[in-house]
Amino acid sequence: MDSKKLNVTNEEDEGASTGPLTPPYQTPKGVHDILPNDHKYHTFIKKVVRHRCRQAGFRRITTPIFEFTDVFTRGIGATSDIVSKEMYTFQDRKGRSMTLKPEGTAGVVRSYIQNGMQALPQPVELYYIEPHFRYDRPQKGRYRMFWQFGFECIGESDAALDAQVIQIAYTILKDLGIAELFHLQLNSIGDEVCRPNYINVLRDFYFGKERSLCADCKYRLEKNPLRLLDCKEEDCQILAQIAPKLVDYLCTECKAYDKDVKEFLEEMGIKFHQNNSLVRGLDYYTKTVFEFWDRNEGAQNAIGGGGRYDGLIELMGGAKTPACGFAAGMERIVAAMKREKIRVPEKDDLHVFVAQLGDEAKKKCLPLISDLREAGVRTMGALGKGAIKTQMRLADKFKVPYTLILGLTEVREGTIIIRDMSVGTQVTVPFENAVEEVVKRIGEKNLDTYTPGEVVF
Ligand code: HAM
Repeated sequence: MDSKKLNVTNEEDEGASTGPLTPPYQTPKGVHDILPNDHKYHTFIKKVVRHRCRQAGFRRITTPIFEFTDVFTRGIGATSDIVSKEMYTFQDRKGRSMTLKPEGTAGVVRSYIQNGMQALPQPVELYYIEPHFRYDRPQKGRYRMFWQFGFECIGESDAALDAQVIQIAYTILKDLGIAELFHLQLNSIGDEVCRPNYINVLRDFYFGKERSLCADCKYRLEKNPLRLLDCKEEDCQILAQIAPKLVDYLCTECKAYDKDVKEFLEEMGIKFHQNNSLVRGLDYYTKTVFEFWDRNEGAQNAIGGGGRYDGLIELMGGAKTPACGFAAGMERIVAAMKREKIRVPEKDDLHVFVAQLGDEAKKKCLPLISDLREAGVRTMGALGKGAIKTQMRLADKFKVPYTLILGLTEVREGTIIIRDMSVGTQVTVPFENAVEEVVKRIGEKNLDTYTPGEVVF
């Protein structure tokens, strides 16, 4: 169906008010449904993240989907691309400026300060799995609503922590079967002692070369010169390659810190590439920055990134507190897993379809379906009024391994038919043995049993 028939415009939304769409409605550009086939990947990723984070002592946090805009402007930096171009900002009914969260770190830091987490034993280790929103230009792997998992380690300044955060990120990618597809890029961007000096050197270097820069970089030169180093425009990249390197201007402390991080990574057998142009798109970083780049597509489709942010807590009104963290994009991970044909557990597949005919059969089927589910058998019942033949066709479409059939004869005789759908054979068993017979065929280890755990009052 073409877009004209749907009465949908493909124009960018800026300024083009087309009024409400007529049905059938579509999602806005850059956002998408996560359909059941993709959910199995999301569920698996969440399981791995929860497991690895718990093992390392991290506890889960959820910050609100929207915050006062200042949380992000202050935290991420007013001149960053995210804040200056990509935020979904709106006024609430009292005229206060609110923003849908574009990333997780600023909100976690706000929460750390607001909830007095400084009084807890340090470091405070927190992780999250949440949707985020950026008004990015939609393209492959770049959406306006996307899911990230991330973790933050607040209250410790040792280089071993940076290495450990990287190691957890790497282990998660390994568990997901995609670690080998990505290259760890590492750099140090110095701190408040050495960076101002480097920025002056950088400004001097670009003096007189402004005409070769793209419009964004002309602005960056004035407001945020470090970002000149990772511009994706060809001409800007040529200049960035011959620009003075931050690594040559690091102070003694930052140099030693960088060396320690690398030694710890080597100790843990994690390979990295020293990338002198890596600066990251958020302004809060100090010292260590890192990203996992796709081996084929490079920086375009980084699967995740992070680093140390020792100044952010103080900047947002807390006491001086060191911290570091990481976040990864879940849609990009799912795409990589699919590309690699990685299979995840099919927890949604049905085991059994129950077909029935007649009012008596239906009455007997309802408790049977409930007993099967209780036993861990994923069961679908055809409880409508269709003929047995129609129900069997449906069972075929659902690709169930077994179908139970309860017709008028079986009700009269107190039996039920179990049909093995893969070979087309069937046996009749006593109705009261139905659950036991099905469990025997499916196998104990494949049952979907659920233990809610013990609740203590
Ligand atoms: P970030 O590099 O902006 O870092 O985002 C992390 C990851 O989120 C990216 O590497 C990418 O996989 C994914 N991502 C970002 N934007 C999009 C998008 N428009 N569509 C799809 N995926 C996207 C942060 O957000 C920092 N808060 C990470 C951090 C945590 N640093 C310290 N702690």
